[in-house]
Amino acid sequence: MLLETALERTFLAIKPDGVQRGLVGEIIRRFETKGFTLVGLKLINVSKELAEQHYDVHRERPFFAGLVEFITSGPVVAMVWQGEGVVASARKIIGATNPLTSEPGTIRGDFGINIGRNLIHGSDAIETAQREIKLWFKDEELVSWTPHLAPWLK
Ligand code: TYD
Repeated sequence: MLLETALERTFLAIKPDGVQRGLVGEIIRRFETKGFTLVGLKLINVSKELAEQHYDVHRERPFFAGLVEFITSGPVVAMVWQGEGVVASARKIIGATNPLTSEPGTIRGDFGINIGRNLIHGSDAIETAQREIKLWFKDEELVSWTPHLAPWLK
């Protein structure tokens, strides 16, 4: 059996469009019913500094300024989810970056049409997830727990 500390974690953020459109419950439901465990959750107004650090890898891209402006434009739901293979699985549940080409059944495929308004962020690799979780959450904001349903999921 895996030790709790060895469990994989990912960082997900429901972007301002997802919050404004009332999709917070629908989006959280998809990860919850899949069987992943929520270990961190907060609604925040993102500072310019945090947005720039989060998207640092895109700093030189033409869409960077607009992306930072968008992500700081309204409340964001920041989350940490845990479970075996959660990083890659969450990316599948989220769908491809451009909602016009995301598969139906994915969050972006079901609810979006605009690449700049694609509803949710999800870490793209385990190392990225570790960096992003550290950036967005303090250690004491994360809750280590095991759902009682765990035996049915293993
Ligand atoms: P990226 O990390 O490539 O995608 P993902 O969110 O699927 O990991 O890009 C980060 C965000 O930047 C993306 O969610 C939306 C925005 N973006 C644009 O606005 N225009 C673009 O051409 C690209 C590639 C991304």
